[in-house]
Amino acid sequence: MARVQLENVKKIYSGNVTAVHDFNLDIADKEFVVFVGPSGCGKSTTLRMVAGLEDISEGICKIDGEVVNDLQSKDRHISMVFQNYALYPHLTVFENMAFPLRLDKKEHVYPWSEEELQKINKKIEALKAKGGQEDKIAKLEASKEKGKVVKGYSQDEIFQKVIDAARVLGITQYLTRKPKALSGGQRQRVAIGRAMVKDCKVFLMDEPLSNLDAKLRNQMRAEIILLRKRINTTFIYVTHDQTEAMTLGDRIVCMRDGYIMQVGSPTQLFDMPDNLFVAQFIGAPMMNTFHTNLVEKGGKYHVEFFGAEFPITGEKGEMLKEKGVQTR
Ligand SMILES: Nc1ncnc2c1ncn2[C@@H]1O[C@H](COP(=O)(O)OP(=O)(O)OP(=O)(O)O)[C@@H](O)[C@H]1O
Ligand SMILES: [Mg+2]
Repeated sequence: MARVQLENVKKIYSGNVTAVHDFNLDIADKEFVVFVGPSGCGKSTTLRMVAGLEDISEGICKIDGEVVNDLQSKDRHISMVFQNYALYPHLTVFENMAFPLRLDKKEHVYPWSEEELQKINKKIEALKAKGGQEDKIAKLEASKEKGKVVKGYSQDEIFQKVIDAARVLGITQYLTRKPKALSGGQRQRVAIGRAMVKDCKVFLMDEPLSNLDAKLRNQMRAEIILLRKRINTTFIYVTHDQTEAMTLGDRIVCMRDGYIMQVGSPTQLFDMPDNLFVAQFIGAPMMNTFHTNLVEKGGKYHVEFFGAEFPITGEKGEMLKEKGVQTR
């Protein structure tokens, strides 16, 4: 379970720059949410606050129900992919991908092998024969129950996880190369692979495709859809490209100047924009807008445009009626 909740979150940088104002969002477990908006609207800042790379000035961020405001990034169970790849130039692709696994020194519990169990049983027998060793025997019995506790990942496991991710991303042939011997698209795949190998609750991506050419971007977009199916965790994806937002997101958060303009499914934002900004930002080519008169006649609405009347029917007409909007 990895629900992400942002409650009245605000970011004030030094110099009194408010980058994010009163941000409220409840992201469901396994949901794919896209933050979209023009440059400087606060997308990265919000994402970085979830990641723990920026302090939260006001408000609360919860991951999996736990307030994480004061948790370090490494303890938040997140994986992040950056626009500039952020690979280690002196490490091979394999070592770049293995890096987060080698850093992870948490305890892992594995079942004992038959051989190991036999050894423990033999030790217990020997202690029993000696007599008076109840404490040691109890410890061994408890350890038999619990399983083998290992700090960090074993070499085999690291190998397997890296190979699995490299296969999915089609980069197995580059595992021994250094990043400088890779193209931009290949480097981005490595960066995604490095984030994939970690067991995470939330997958964060900040403009991961914006350094790629248009063709490769389309291809990688399709791969991110596959990646999402495979990882099946909560995703927050930042982009300034509305096409990317429309094709990837279950829900889109459209932002402007640090404020949320609208949150909804791609079709909601496209068909029922809450305001002119969203109407013009979402959709390519950009929506045309005109000043007209809205006329209400007996609960029915139409707009007048160059002498012609265009009725507003369906959901939009119902909404105007519900709100009792008058002729204007
Ligand atoms: N360290 C900082 N100190 C002061 N202001 C900052 C800092 N980092 C970001 N800002 C400001 O906060 C605002 C939001 O920046 P942010 O990087 O979140 O935008 P963005 O939506 O990710 O834009 P882009 O699409 O260009 O990446 C901008 O006005 C930016 O100038
Ligand atoms: Mg940004």
